[in-house]
Amino acid sequence: MSKTLTIALSKGRIFKDTVPLLRAAGIEPLDDPETSRKLVLDTSRDDVKIVIIRATDVPTYVQYGAADLGVAGKDVLMEHGGEGLYEMIDLKIANCKLMVAGFSNRPLPDTNLKVATKFVNCARRYFASQGRQVDIIKLYGSMELAPLVGLADCIVDLVDTGNTLRANGLAPLEHMADISSRLVVNKAAMKLKHDSIQDLLTQIQSVVAQRN
Ligand code: ADP
Ligand code: PRP
Ligand code: MG
Repeated sequence: MSKTLTIALSKGRIFKDTVPLLRAAGIEPLDDPETSRKLVLDTSRDDVKIVIIRATDVPTYVQYGAADLGVAGKDVLMEHGGEGLYEMIDLKIANCKLMVAGFSNRPLPDTNLKVATKFVNCARRYFASQGRQVDIIKLYGSMELAPLVGLADCIVDLVDTGNTLRANGLAPLEHMADISSRLVVNKAAMKLKHDSIQDLLTQIQSVVAQRN
């Protein structure tokens, strides 16, 4: 295994919120994924590269060792299952909640509840733990639309300000989990590249601790 460290990040809020943490460890990306089409970014450190992938793919790249480390939302990690990786640091970025949402004035049916979500595993586990019988409808985005057009009774989705729910006449109904992003590390890399990964973890941990 090469001694280069590969870090998997997704574009958007995770990239933006992770850059200041990496900077504290002396790692500055040399390209901006919002303007560049490059998927492998060099950094100010010769031994560190960043790969830009979809948020939901981060655990997969880290699990198989295609990236040594990555930053992923707890929602994505719960949905993936966390196999093959260690969840090392709660970075306390991209904070939101995983919730059941629907119409505030319409009680949810006790049986045959139709739930639209991209978080099918989380939703199945949550409703099963409460002994509620549900039909899960897998979607890939714009979950808020599903109750409006009668595709589902409710959704399981991320909520931060609640603006998206409100804009679509929906309301948060049940809190499932508090979500933040985590630094994850491939299990084999943690052994084989222990010193360089441990240095990076220590530096990032100290910035996170100072902030919170
Ligand atoms: P995607 O393209 O998968 O939606 P995002 O960048 O929107 O990627 O989401 C990445 C992670 O950021 C999610 O897995 C979640 O943990 C967190 N997140 C998503 N939406 C919000 C939000 N509105 N506010 C704060 N954090 C969020
Ligand atoms: C996320 C999430 C909700 C919204 C919640 O979407 O899927 O739709 O944020 O945030 P709010 O409570 O502050 O409105 P995102 O902005 O990531 O857009 P996306 O559909 O591209 O994932
Ligand atoms: Mg999103």
